[in-house]
Amino acid sequence: MATESLTRALDVSDLSERTFLDVGCGSGLFSLAACRLGARVRAFDFDADSVAAASAMRDRFAPDGAWSVERGSILDEDFVATLGRFDVVYSWGVLHHTGDMWRAMDLLPDLVAPGGRLYISIYNDQGFESRVWRAVKRRYNRSGPVARRALVLGSAAYLSRRRLAKRLLGPAVRPAPSPARAPRARGMSARHDLIDWVGGYPFEVAKPEAVFAFLRERGFELCYLKTCGGGLGCNEYVFQRPASDRPA
Ligand SMILES: C[S@@+](CC[C@H](N)C(=O)[O-])C[C@H]1O[C@@H](n2cnc3c(N)ncnc32)[C@H](O)[C@@H]1O
Repeated sequence: MATESLTRALDVSDLSERTFLDVGCGSGLFSLAACRLGARVRAFDFDADSVAAASAMRDRFAPDGAWSVERGSILDEDFVATLGRFDVVYSWGVLHHTGDMWRAMDLLPDLVAPGGRLYISIYNDQGFESRVWRAVKRRYNRSGPVARRALVLGSAAYLSRRRLAKRLLGPAVRPAPSPARAPRARGMSARHDLIDWVGGYPFEVAKPEAVFAFLRERGFELCYLKTCGGGLGCNEYVFQRPASDRPA
């Protein structure tokens, strides 16, 4: 699924001869997918556990691949300046967790080679609901185990309210497949997905038009968009840097 998501969004059949930068690589699953598609991959993450997980993933599944993993922050301008330019810069679900999303987004364009692509995903801005989730997430991170458990259970009840309502309406309404049984996007179990959602802080959000305008001002053209339909979750964007920068 990871490999397929890259080929579909980037509109390529493989990434051979291409360079790929994975910004905030997490477990390294998408670096592995890029590696299997033939790319030379450089991956980094701010979190030492993620670096260890991605390194273990590389050692186990792609020991001979051209794939480096290191620790670094997209907000560290000195580190970012050492990275160079890449055919694909990939940052899925990362910028909104840095604590300074727009500054992080501002540092990405220089990492994209002329003609290259920038693939990002950012939490959708749902207005008031996003502000409530932000408060829940902040509270979770400041709480002890009992309050955390209560916040996770309350969030689970809120998120499954439509499914519960359908069940209460009886067999006249066909229930949706259980998320625990449906194939999980991005490889997380339903339980980890829920804890990741409630505990995922810092938390920033953006409307698609704001992301579009921000990167268009920096000379990028939108070539792929997958929204979450205005609801909860991430909008995905692929932008292309023109092959030669137009004169200002
Ligand atoms: C939701 S996970 C996404 C992981 C991976 N991109 C994926 O799609 O599976 C967010 C990741 O962003 C990383 N992160 C947060 N702030 C960062 C920063 N300033 N620089 C680099 N990585 C950061 C976190 O450590 C975490 O691994």
